[in-house]
Amino acid sequence: MSKRVLVAYASKTGATAEVAEFMGKVLREAGAEVDVVPIKNVRGLDGYDVAFVGSAIRVGQWLKEAVSFVEAHKDALSQRPTAFFTVCLTLHEDTPENRQTVHAYLDPVRAIFTPQAEGFFAGRMQTARLGLLEKMMMRMMKPPEGDFRNWDAIRAWTGETYAQLAG
Ligand SMILES: Cc1cc2nc3c(=O)[nH]c(=O)nc-3n(C[C@H](O)[C@H](O)[C@H](O)COP(=O)(O)O)c2cc1C
Repeated sequence: MSKRVLVAYASKTGATAEVAEFMGKVLREAGAEVDVVPIKNVRGLDGYDVAFVGSAIRVGQWLKEAVSFVEAHKDALSQRPTAFFTVCLTLHEDTPENRQTVHAYLDPVRAIFTPQAEGFFAGRMQTARLGLLEKMMMRMMKPPEGDFRNWDAIRAWTGETYAQLAG
């Protein structure tokens, strides 16, 4: 029987939403029945065999709505195989130091619930998509501009993680 998989995501400017949709496609190709849902719209995990929960990073943290979701549903998450995924800019340069930095972003979330698997991916920075305050922040921080998402890496992690969690 095919597994029912929830991909719940928090995204501010759409990059993580597109990563989540892509993961959904990969999971369907692997034979799963998949719902890809903005985290704010998820009411519960009943009926799902496996959960993928992900967020964009803002100032070194998962978005608040994603952390609140994990807090609210930690018992349900602990009852099924769960993976976390994180989309950020630091990994536009995939170095051991940057991996360590982004791994630490998850410490507060891991303190609430520790998943079976974690994936970390480079995202996208398009300052034109930001609000005024964030635009000003970015003017000071001068981040690299562009789309750094590595779809092959996302595909590989999603497939391998699903095989691990659903197997
Ligand atoms: C105000 C702001 C703060 C950010 N802070 C970080 C950060 O601390 N570390 C990081 O790696 N990326 C940071 N980013 C980059 C985002 O995580 C990245 O652009 C991500 O792809 C956004 O995903 P979204 O389009 O789903 O919101 C920041 C972006 C903005 C706009």
